[in-house]
Amino acid sequence: MCGIAGYIGPMQAESVLLVALERLKYRGYDSAGMAILDSHEILIRKSEGRLRQLEEQLSMRPVLGHCGIAHTRWATHGAPTTINAHPHTCARGNIAVVHNGIIENHEVLRSRLQAAGAIFQSQTDTEVIPNLLAQVYTGDPLAAIQAIISELQGSFAFAAVFEDHPDHIFVARQGSPLLVGRGEGQMLLASDIPALLPHAHEYLQLEDGQLAVLTRGQVRICSFSGAVIEPAFKTIEMNVESVSKGDYDSFMAKEIAEQPEVLQRILESRLRGDTLTDPDLGIDLRGINHVVFLAAGTSWHAALLGKRFLESLARIHVEVDISSEYRYRNPVASGGTLVVAISQSGETADTLASLRLAKSKFIPVVSLVNVMDSTIARESDGVMPLLAGPEIGVASTKAYTAQVFALYAFALHLARVKGRIDGEQMRRHLDGMRPIPELVAHSLALAEDRVLAAAELFTPANATVFLGRGGEFPTALEGALKLKEISYVHAMGYAGGEFKHGPIALVTPSLPVVCICPRDAMYEKMISNIEEVRARQGRIIAVGDADDDTLAGIADICFPVLRSEDELLQPLLSILPLQRYAYHVARGRNCDVDQPRNLAKSVTVE
Ligand code: F6R
Repeated sequence: MCGIAGYIGPMQAESVLLVALERLKYRGYDSAGMAILDSHEILIRKSEGRLRQLEEQLSMRPVLGHCGIAHTRWATHGAPTTINAHPHTCARGNIAVVHNGIIENHEVLRSRLQAAGAIFQSQTDTEVIPNLLAQVYTGDPLAAIQAIISELQGSFAFAAVFEDHPDHIFVARQGSPLLVGRGEGQMLLASDIPALLPHAHEYLQLEDGQLAVLTRGQVRICSFSGAVIEPAFKTIEMNVESVSKGDYDSFMAKEIAEQPEVLQRILESRLRGDTLTDPDLGIDLRGINHVVFLAAGTSWHAALLGKRFLESLARIHVEVDISSEYRYRNPVASGGTLVVAISQSGETADTLASLRLAKSKFIPVVSLVNVMDSTIARESDGVMPLLAGPEIGVASTKAYTAQVFALYAFALHLARVKGRIDGEQMRRHLDGMRPIPELVAHSLALAEDRVLAAAELFTPANATVFLGRGGEFPTALEGALKLKEISYVHAMGYAGGEFKHGPIALVTPSLPVVCICPRDAMYEKMISNIEEVRARQGRIIAVGDADDDTLAGIADICFPVLRSEDELLQPLLSILPLQRYAYHVARGRNCDVDQPRNLAKSVTVE
């Protein structure tokens, strides 16, 4: 969480950094700021609130200069105020720092610095960094960073500028992502690739324990202890269009609409004619008889479906664990176990920590990630790329359906490796996968008027319950998460069979209950759920087959969905109207769907 950026080159740093912050704001948007060097001093502008508040400040008080650093914040230590906004400086103001991560021992360092006379302005952990630097600085910034770096505990990526080195940016990484970008006569730094565009054509990922010094067109890299490291740049494949909203009013709307093409991409990457290609994992899966999925949030919901797929298709015992729980247990490591870490960003701190725990127990780890150069991808024994393209809206949509589809392909692969399905069965399953992108495209165009009408009708409701069974239980959880995170309506997903064990007490004539009810093996049971809600005057939004008149007759509003031939894949279609419903309710409540309050896209702190 938090995004950092830096620029040194021929352009005005202010304008380059504003674009970079715009691209990084999915990482946090409580406040933003920048420090620009002119030949005499460090000029700082910062503001609490959204990026546009910083922009307004800059339009009234522009800063000129060709070298600068910038930050967009997701508050951890200290309220989201202007004082706590980055950059932070030492008392003299000649050193400025932006930081992503947490300095865990900041209180000890702060007390020590205060005892030595340092005066702190903010409540942040970050402010100890410029103050520590000031204490040891004698004109050599790199030497000062090397002198203090071992004192910092926790995870961090920071960038520092020094007033007497106006053409240099100094950066360090330990645990939080940091990329260096190179363009014609210009260097950039950022927490993520989109923020390097369009000026950088190449990038390198700084590793933990490395420092870098950026000057125009050049970078020097060394280890914390000073060993020189040869920079190895890679070409940036991403283009500006893929990180822009285009004609859509929000990234969320764009990403919902992109789902058919994402699923088609996954299909094309995994199918060659009538065969499923092997993912290049570098792990022998034949001895695997136990899979543990580790994930958080929406990725955890996808993992719940992954369990169904693996159990049904490969007949393998599967556990699904929330990363933040797994990492603090003492999980049993037995031979034949495979851990699969699922993460869109590839940077989720809890998933990364649980991956490391699994590796420390010699359990092989495969990850399913969207960001291929992420820490989780780099630390896994094998990686399955999600191929969803950049997901910028904070509420995950296309990454979710991509995860579900990719997990289905993974389950088929494992089933084949384990000899659990024959050629004929495999062909049938692949035939079930092929029409999915088109079914998703048609479903997205279906009954928008009903979704809008339901959103209008239930926008005032301050709670909503989602019910599903079997494969649609994860859909209920995901539908509820989408609604609550972007519209702030309290929403809970329950397994239909659990409803009468307590939550049914919530039902009143003003409670909308979303019942996910395709004509599958659980259909009759879900109809009973609906009747139980109706008997208590609850309001029903049903998600079900387009031609299901029974359902239409008992629901207040019915969202029609198309049917997948393979029942296991039906949740890919059932979730679509719920993504759109959440979007419209949020819009009706004037919420910012791309930047919901208190959230950040990439949760790099515990
Ligand atoms: C919700 C959402 C989050 C993420 C979670 C894990 O819409 O996006 O719940 O799914 O923070 O993130 P990743 O998948 O990046 O590990």
